[in-house]
Amino acid sequence: MTPIAPAKEALALHGGTPVRAKFLPYGRQSIDEEDITAVAETLRSDWLTTGPKVGEFEEAFAAWVGARYAVSFSSGTAALHGAAFAAGLGPGDEAITSPLTFAATANCVLYQGGTPVFSDVREDTLNIDPERVSERITARTKALLPVDYAGHPADLDALHKIAGRHGLIVIEDGCHALGAEHRGRRVGRISHMTVFSFHPVKHLTTGEGGMVTTDNVRFADTLRKFRNHGISSEARERQAHGQWHYEMVLLGFNYRLTDIACALGLRQLAKIESNLARRRQIAARYSETLSSISGVTLPVVQDHVLPAWHLYPVRLKLDSLKVSRAEIFQALRAENLGVNVHYIPVHLHPYYRDRFGYKPGDYPLAESAYERLVSLPIFHGMTDRDVEDVISALRKVMAEYAA
Ligand SMILES: Cc1ncc(COP(=O)(O)O)c(C=O)c1O
Repeated sequence: MTPIAPAKEALALHGGTPVRAKFLPYGRQSIDEEDITAVAETLRSDWLTTGPKVGEFEEAFAAWVGARYAVSFSSGTAALHGAAFAAGLGPGDEAITSPLTFAATANCVLYQGGTPVFSDVREDTLNIDPERVSERITARTKALLPVDYAGHPADLDALHKIAGRHGLIVIEDGCHALGAEHRGRRVGRISHMTVFSFHPVKHLTTGEGGMVTTDNVRFADTLRKFRNHGISSEARERQAHGQWHYEMVLLGFNYRLTDIACALGLRQLAKIESNLARRRQIAARYSETLSSISGVTLPVVQDHVLPAWHLYPVRLKLDSLKVSRAEIFQALRAENLGVNVHYIPVHLHPYYRDRFGYKPGDYPLAESAYERLVSLPIFHGMTDRDVEDVISALRKVMAEYAA
């Protein structure tokens, strides 16, 4: 008797039963009772903002990362703005960054009246390619703004060498990379300034929130003023002039993070090691099992880094598939998998096209990656069942569409 091949399961997109009954997002927060208690205690305290939790969170964060100073901000975007200001970026200045990032990375240069200059990514890690960066440097270049894409640190050695040669400041966008390591050193203690985000999909959340870490006392001082209207509120000045006295010494903003948020951040920071361990476990399971699925390329990890796995982005081998990324994306969504795409290259957003004249083809590696990328769900609260559902759904969809 000839064996009968098992019937291929119909895709949910075509009316079949989805792999999951409930939608699984690509990322989400984990909040436990300790977090809720800490926030409630702060709500009952005298200080909802500018109180003691802010300093406590900043000190604990700096200590964990291994930086001398950490200055909190109301978002990662505000933190990037602060870093661009502290670096002295202004009209006429250029900062070189990756096109494959969230728009906020480049926008912070525009906030300061400077010009973001994009430089294409490496094909393997999708991080900015240091060799191309050198070609983009002009007399106006003031800063490099590498992004640790998906939580894999950029080529920080090479970038710092270039920065040293040209007297540039390195502002690292580490919004994906809290807990990542580069040659055994944690992201946050390597660059002149490193920026983090505490949005709910990140490794640690405060609702909205951000941080800049630095070893440079002048940067730390400027960052503190900038996020507080540019006000210098040194105790000795207040004593000299009476308690009411303060001086605005630069044009800042209200970018403060509240004590409510910092109380949550402190509790979340206490769980960062286990959150990272869980993300690494999930990534290892994906890498081990998904390598047998044809039609996808898995993320590359360089030998000298330990990624933080904010994202797990696979790339579709479009040549060996019957359909486009859009159809695969819809098919995975129909299976109730919250896949996503990171990122539409920044230069292709209408604002950047209209203002700077960018067009498709300007950064071919970032664009080619974008057309193929699909971020699979990864977050520390995922159960083993969730992880296996992702694997099953990807296997089911790719089997349907393999050419
Ligand atoms: C690479 C990158 N930079 C900056 C940001 C901005 O952070 P936030 O959302 O906290 O403003 C994000 C947020 O998703 C990000 O992914």
